[in-house]
Amino acid sequence: MSDGRVIGVISGKGGVGKTSITVNLGIALKQMGKEVTLVDADFSASNLGVYLGRYDHPVKIQKVLHEEASVNQAIFRHPTGVKAITSSNEINQVEPNTAKLRELLETAAKDSDYVLVDCPPGLNATVENIIESCDELMIVTMPTQTSGLNAAQVIEKAKQLHKPILGTVMNMVENNPEKELVEREVEMMTESHILGKVPYDPEMKEALFENTPLVLHNDLSPAAIEVRRLAHSLEGEQFNEPKLGKLKRGLRKIKKNISR
Ligand SMILES: Nc1ncnc2c1ncn2[C@@H]1O[C@H](COP(=O)(O)OP(=O)(O)OP(=O)(O)O)[C@@H](O)[C@H]1O
Ligand SMILES: [Mg+2]
Repeated sequence: MSDGRVIGVISGKGGVGKTSITVNLGIALKQMGKEVTLVDADFSASNLGVYLGRYDHPVKIQKVLHEEASVNQAIFRHPTGVKAITSSNEINQVEPNTAKLRELLETAAKDSDYVLVDCPPGLNATVENIIESCDELMIVTMPTQTSGLNAAQVIEKAKQLHKPILGTVMNMVENNPEKELVEREVEMMTESHILGKVPYDPEMKEALFENTPLVLHNDLSPAAIEVRRLAHSLEGEQFNEPKLGKLKRGLRKIKKNISR
């Protein structure tokens, strides 16, 4: 296997869905037979393990960056088969030395088709180092002015650093042109290609509450379908819309309500 792609999932603005997209996209790629490693690079508010369903591992990314553990010691396998490296929540660990991050990601990429790096919000020296350590960037934005502007800033910085932009994922889209930016506006604002549009989906929060990533919680929910479509487009594969998806989704809901 040749070395995998190291993709930084980044936004500028916080809370737009980077971790949700990272986890669900990673699982969707794994379900397609790809080897995937998820890396939590959000050192100050790390929650990748929580989004995976409260998975924890004693060896965190900080230990590897500080050369107290090897990359393989930090990697654990989630029941889905996705591999992950989580980050410490200890407050004195918030700004680890990122000099070794590229080496860490390169090692992880040796046994992976994809290494997805969950980035922190903002644009500071640590984030710049993370950008430099990735091969390419996937931008996540909500269809709002503020989120779009922050995404554009990240893209500008990435261009200064000669980092390729894979494209932009619009998340929490409500398809309401009166109160949100449409695809063309986001495209113009960010000067980037729109990779996918993930709808606002209440099941995303429900899944988080139930400690199960959305694509496992309900693979037919609207956001899960769009994340699975995104996984296929990364692989250059056609995504076949699930047959009778809406009907099956409705039946599942009824069953769930009856069993409550
Ligand atoms: N498509 C969606 N529909 C509805 N809710 C969503 C969607 N995507 C994410 N969310 C919710 O939005 C919140 C923020 O998501 P998430 O933590 O993934 O964002 P983030 O960009 O990683 O945040 P941070 O910048 O703090 O790391 C969570 O409660 C998540 O469940
Ligand atoms: Mg996050």
